Amino acid sequence: MPDSHSWAHIDVEALRHNLERARISAPGRRVCAVIKANAYGHGVHTVAKALQPVLHGNDLFAVATLHEALTLRHTASTEAILVMRGPLTLEELTLLVQGGFHWVLHSRYQAELLKNWLKSLAGAVSPTLNIWLKINTGMNRLGLPAEELHDIWRWLQSLKLPGERVLMSHFATADEPEHVLAHQQQTAFAELINSLPDAEHCSRSLSASAGIVSWPQAHHDIVRPGIMLYGASPMADTDGSYYQLKPVMSLKSRLLTINHVKAGDTVGYGATYHCDQDTPIGVIGIGYGDGYPRHAPSGTPVLIYAHGEVWEAPLAGRVSMDMLTVDLRGIPASPGDEVLLWGQSWGSELPADRIARYAGTIAYELFCQVTSRVRFIV
Ligand SMILES: Cc1ncc(COP(=O)(O)O)c(C=O)c1O
Repeated sequence: MPDSHSWAHIDVEALRHNLERARISAPGRRVCAVIKANAYGHGVHTVAKALQPVLHGNDLFAVATLHEALTLRHTASTEAILVMRGPLTLEELTLLVQGGFHWVLHSRYQAELLKNWLKSLAGAVSPTLNIWLKINTGMNRLGLPAEELHDIWRWLQSLKLPGERVLMSHFATADEPEHVLAHQQQTAFAELINSLPDAEHCSRSLSASAGIVSWPQAHHDIVRPGIMLYGASPMADTDGSYYQLKPVMSLKSRLLTINHVKAGDTVGYGATYHCDQDTPIGVIGIGYGDGYPRHAPSGTPVLIYAHGEVWEAPLAGRVSMDMLTVDLRGIPASPGDEVLLWGQSWGSELPADRIARYAGTIAYELFCQVTSRVRFIV
């Protein structure tokens, strides 16, 4: 069937390899594989299915929302699923508990919801509560402040209801090893947990990918790898290959045509690319309507496979909705040739991390923004 000439190949072997890298970095820890936002744009069912065989008995999947969890449940019927946003309404709370999900309790508001819900049960049943109590240690996004933590912890413990309790927090700057906040958060996490009565037997979880590769002292009991599973680097200014990660998504398209632009002419919207000599300009069938970042400037590389060799060509002019243009000087390319926007192919790699740096963003965002016009191939 004809398609839009752009496709994303998802390499499930690379995904499993990357999970193994997380295990090697954090040996013996339980893994909570983060597959929210459609598995960072890779396709949640594909990713969950690929990871299932390499998850251990008490590992989990994590998503952000209850909606994501309910969708995932069809694929992952046996694995535990953590809902990191927790409930916002009584209805959501009921579905979380009845669905057997693990969920994050990060606010007094949610504790009140739980209190009311338990009251409505009037002790008729003893629900299993798999609650991850999220502590604010400096991120100041979701998490209980120190002054509320004790009350809520004591109350939760007093319920004596079955289920797992995990104490968790989240780093704000783990990707910048020099930043003082990552040290302060670790200290705060330890101090707050140590101040809680009877917390010794409770599992702890602090590290996402950056903590896994860079902060061994912060691995605790459960690690929560996200971006590293998809092969991109969790650390600022490095590529995934530095941590022996392999790209999972390879975004590809084709050369549509080659224009011979005259010296003195310009290319594309805004006429931002000036040809100071006669220049072959390749037009590639992918644009921001497919999720390629519009902010990628001239000079951002693509790889082209032409005449049995791999060539790097720089973007020339603005990315448009359905197309982008590249400078083909010295490259013997023809219409129909394959182009790699990020990922790996033909024995070469073009890291999404590198493209993200050109576009002033992070690989997370590049992956999440690939649109449904792109065909996914596993
Ligand atoms: C609470 C929490 N844990 C883990 C992760 C995974 O992070 P990363 O993709 O950097 O590994 C996220 C991602 O945003 C998160 O919010």
